Amino acid sequence: MNGIFEAIKISEHIYWVGAIDWAIRDFHGYGTSRGTTYNAFLITGEKNILVDTVKAPFKDELLSRISSVIDPEKIDFIISQHAEMDHSGCLTDVINLVKPEKVFTSKMGTKVLKEHFNFDFELTAVSNGETLEFGDIKLTFYETRLLHWPESMITYVHNDKVLFSQDGFGLHLATYERFADEVNESILFYESAKYYANILLPYSKLILKLLDTLGKLNLDIDIIATDHGPLWRGEFIEKILKYYEKWAKQEPTNKAVVLYDTMWGSTELMARAIGEGLAAGGAKVKLMHSRKDHRSDIITELLDAGAFIVGGPTINNMMFPAIQDAMSYIKGLKPQNLIGFTFGSYGWSGESSKQLRAILEDFGVKIVLDEVKIKNVPKLEGLQQCYNAGKTVAELLLKSKN
Ligand code: FEO
Repeated sequence: MNGIFEAIKISEHIYWVGAIDWAIRDFHGYGTSRGTTYNAFLITGEKNILVDTVKAPFKDELLSRISSVIDPEKIDFIISQHAEMDHSGCLTDVINLVKPEKVFTSKMGTKVLKEHFNFDFELTAVSNGETLEFGDIKLTFYETRLLHWPESMITYVHNDKVLFSQDGFGLHLATYERFADEVNESILFYESAKYYANILLPYSKLILKLLDTLGKLNLDIDIIATDHGPLWRGEFIEKILKYYEKWAKQEPTNKAVVLYDTMWGSTELMARAIGEGLAAGGAKVKLMHSRKDHRSDIITELLDAGAFIVGGPTINNMMFPAIQDAMSYIKGLKPQNLIGFTFGSYGWSGESSKQLRAILEDFGVKIVLDEVKIKNVPKLEGLQQCYNAGKTVAELLLKSKN
């Protein structure tokens, strides 16, 4: 199988043979405005090993890149580190084409892969910390449960000092640059933070454990080869590890995110007054609109925030649908260490602020002020109340930093 796509050599024995998805803009609800890559790797030696595959529509790109190095039928073994379809969607077809001696995955992977795909092929389980030698290639496997799925694992290649980290340390960024140090650094770390906030945030305790384990293993790592976006090498390895520690700890700053929606502009006036009060009190402020800002950008802003203030009008006794969408997404990702309160304008019943407060409390936001509710259009007195509420939160944020 030939094609126009070529492999890129990343180390003595290893080639990148993945696919670039320039057009994806929605990755299961996560807005991927810069596209992504599905990274797969070919280890060549006395035995040839394919590590992960790609999303199903990109199978030919994967096979073309492999073919630029070896005939795909010369692949002896496949390692499937993660069953999610962006890495295993074409695994069945690749197994049928390549007919490998064995397909390795984690113990849980043997179950999860069979629950997702229909292939009549015996999978071989590797255990946590197991080392296997394939001719001159030596690999060790480590389970990384829930990072990002229960069956996930990572693989260390002793020969080339490469750690295949699967979803870990990934970012959604379509690019021909294969290494992080070749990419604009502010885009690189913004997209890394966004990926962390949207994919890994609920598993932050496990991330800290993984960082601790990696520290204790003291692996000599030249490249962290993630399954999404550019690969990490040189000083960028230390940089991304430090960021992961910071994001996993989610230590609050004096930044406040004010999320709102509005029907006729009244709740928006309240949000702006709260923003003024926050800024006057010394907080960094980000106002976000639930229909104009994407939910995945809102959670990214919350990654380093200390306060989350949410407001919306009431419609038919309910909160606004777009706010509900954003709050459902944010609640699932469980951002921590936040203080906040809720607000909103209302016409007659005004249930929204209470409903929003219940969601905040549900994922652990410490409520520091009662709901600020204003009937119909806020006048100066009401706006002053919002301003004061913002200022109070800013003062609490600054106090907690001292
Ligand atoms: Fe890149 Fe959890 O899949």
